[in-house]
Amino acid sequence: MTQCAMRRDLGSLVLRPGTAGDAEACGGVCYEAFRTLAERHGFPPDFPSATHAAALMSNLLAHPRLYSVVAELGGRIVGSNFLDERSTIAGLGPISVHPDAQNSSVGRRLMLAALDRAKERRFPGVRLLQAGYHNRSLSLYTKLGFNVREPVVTLQGPALKEDIPGYPVRTAREDDLESCNRLCVSVHGHDRSGEVLDGIRQGSTRVVERAGRITGYTTGIAFFAHSIGETNEDLQALIAAAPEFAGPGFLLPARNGELYRWSLAHGLKVVQVMNLMTLGLYNEPTGAYLPSVLY
Ligand SMILES: CC(C)(COP(=O)(O)OP(=O)(O)OC[C@H]1O[C@@H](n2cnc3c(N)ncnc32)[C@H](O)[C@@H]1OP(=O)(O)O)[C@@H](O)C(=O)NCCC(=O)NCCS
Repeated sequence: MTQCAMRRDLGSLVLRPGTAGDAEACGGVCYEAFRTLAERHGFPPDFPSATHAAALMSNLLAHPRLYSVVAELGGRIVGSNFLDERSTIAGLGPISVHPDAQNSSVGRRLMLAALDRAKERRFPGVRLLQAGYHNRSLSLYTKLGFNVREPVVTLQGPALKEDIPGYPVRTAREDDLESCNRLCVSVHGHDRSGEVLDGIRQGSTRVVERAGRITGYTTGIAFFAHSIGETNEDLQALIAAAPEFAGPGFLLPARNGELYRWSLAHGLKVVQVMNLMTLGLYNEPTGAYLPSVLY
């Protein structure tokens, strides 16, 4: 289908819930959408291949607590969007529209579908991470009511593989969940229990334990994971112990200059700047944290 044909025929746009069988088509669209955008701006692609994007889509589509919406035009999948419903605040994305169908309101319709779902499920707030260099998504999300809360840098580089004396890191157990939730509530005003538990079950959640108390945790120092610390040193211990920074990199709030400078001093490099945007309830964090791109 040509771009013009799709634009003329937008009346035939169908939005429907995603199914496991959509993974490959959604992965192809997601890969092309992000690759084209990144290349146009001279940034590295978010996904190394369509296969990687399809694997992500497959996980997202299969997750019982993620809502998915797929856009079809003339029977062909041209976009998808997701809402993470695991915790108090819903997480929106990744949203992608095939380059041939972009800038014709498909993205707006996919956003509205996810926001309708959040309203229906009575989420007090919705959050997302926006690629800072993309004028269109920044404007679209702002028009839909999202506000920029924090500039966030994506950091990448070789693993530090260091111990921070006095800040021992270990793999989390299920009986750590309550302490992790308490820590999250003390910083964000709500917990992210669903993500922490998923991370514990997958073996990616790690904690800092000082004097018998959990003072920091991470679901993984990675693009798709978040972290909380009582102090920046707790986060430093988690970052320093990470075996790698999975995905394009991990996300660090740029206004946390102390932790940002520490990361730069340890050789990490900025890949891109993103914006943490929220709609509805948002509590200004009161401690050290690293957001995740999705959850
Ligand atoms: C982001 C994305 C999903 C948006 O979907 P889309 O179908 O291209 O966007 P839409 O046509 O629905 O909406 C674009 C809106 O931005 C507006 N817009 C576009 N460029 C703009 C600019 N430079 N300044 C201000 N507004 C702009 C349009 O006028 C339109 O507003 P409207 O809905 O009020 O008419 C899509 O471009 C995409 O897949 N990009 C690649 C992947 C990506 O960036 N995902 C999101 C990561 S944060």
